[in-house]
Amino acid sequence: MNNRYKVIQWATGITGQASLRAVIRNPNLELVAVKVYSSEKDGKDAGQIVGLDSTEITCTVDPTKILSTDADCVIYSPMPWDVEEICAILMSGKHVITPCPYWFPFVQDSESALLIQKACQEGGVNFHASGINPGGIAEKLPLTLSGLCNRIDRITMTEYGDCRDYGSEGVIRDLMNLGRTPEEADNNPVKDLLTNFWNEPIDMIAEGLKSEIIKYSAEHNYILASEDIETASGMIRKGTIGLNNYRHVGLTKEGTEIIQEQIWFMDDLSQNRLDKKMDIPQDSGWRIRLEGDVNLVVDVKLDAPTQPERTAMGISLTGFHCANSVSVVCEATPPGIKTFLDLPMVTSAQGRHTIFS
Ligand SMILES: NC(=O)c1ccc[n+]([C@@H]2O[C@H](COP(=O)([O-])OP(=O)(O)OC[C@H]3O[C@@H](n4cnc5c(N)ncnc54)[C@H](OP(=O)(O)O)[C@@H]3O)[C@@H](O)[C@H]2O)c1
Repeated sequence: MNNRYKVIQWATGITGQASLRAVIRNPNLELVAVKVYSSEKDGKDAGQIVGLDSTEITCTVDPTKILSTDADCVIYSPMPWDVEEICAILMSGKHVITPCPYWFPFVQDSESALLIQKACQEGGVNFHASGINPGGIAEKLPLTLSGLCNRIDRITMTEYGDCRDYGSEGVIRDLMNLGRTPEEADNNPVKDLLTNFWNEPIDMIAEGLKSEIIKYSAEHNYILASEDIETASGMIRKGTIGLNNYRHVGLTKEGTEIIQEQIWFMDDLSQNRLDKKMDIPQDSGWRIRLEGDVNLVVDVKLDAPTQPERTAMGISLTGFHCANSVSVVCEATPPGIKTFLDLPMVTSAQGRHTIFS
């Protein structure tokens, strides 16, 4: 018999709505509260937010009400996130799963790691940062494939994203600098944070390979828009960044290179509205390449007829992965930060079959 877990959804943006939908559908999860920020969503039924039937759970902007709700787990999906808020939830005795940092914070942000670890111990619960990149495709999949390999010289994970239909200004502009001038991108206060972001999966892969990183390097290349481009997160003006190519590299002490690369762009694959073109094999998805005494290339593609549908599917994966993690996170012991290296396999829940009566 599976345990049933009481879940709170905290923030209902694009990824929060995907996890909310997954919680409502999952027979092993019970939605008990929803925290929202926008006054328009305050007081609405959670089902209404995601176009489903009534759940009889009313969304609230009041964090105190949420913290005092009896629940096993909070799926925490705001933008921006707040480490003190995460700690308050943990100390209230609720596990936290989030697509926000901190996936493997021990090297890049040991201060936050310590705060979260202490809060977990005080609340007797776990913290797990999930998602898709970071949080799934970025490190879990390369590590899984590494189990098929012997000597590994290089692991490269490249994300391709035509982001015209990703409507989060916070993620697209504030975090990823699309639509900003190169000077604005260079002076973005979250620049170092972004480097930590991409170095965390690199550290997790190194740890999974029973190694450690001895040298980090990073490159930020971009291509400017050659004309105004209309997108779901606003107009990308001519002369601002229309394609971002972030490349973060970690070198292990044994000489394995671990590369995290993002190519996020605001045009279709023709790139006719950009100043220059890059070689981009797919408009959304990921390519994972392991090189060594065997070479593996695995392409993860989103299969839908239109680009907006592929973008929506890509973002949904993030929220679904969070919701699917609830049972393994609630059941992990002892209390603390749980990375993918600490947890059993996360699978989807569809129901049960009786094979033998
Ligand atoms: N790991 C991954 O693979 C991955 C992928 C995508 C996103 N993410 C992360 O997931 C988080 C959510 O992303 P998203 O795409 O869902 O973003 P989003 O669509 O911009 O949603 C963010 C939500 O945050 C809430 N919010 C509004 N004002 C806020 C404030 N001042 N402080 C805190 N929260 C506020 C709102 O919730 P309400 O609408 O309920 O009012 C808003 O809808 C981000 O932190 C992002 O970095 C991770």
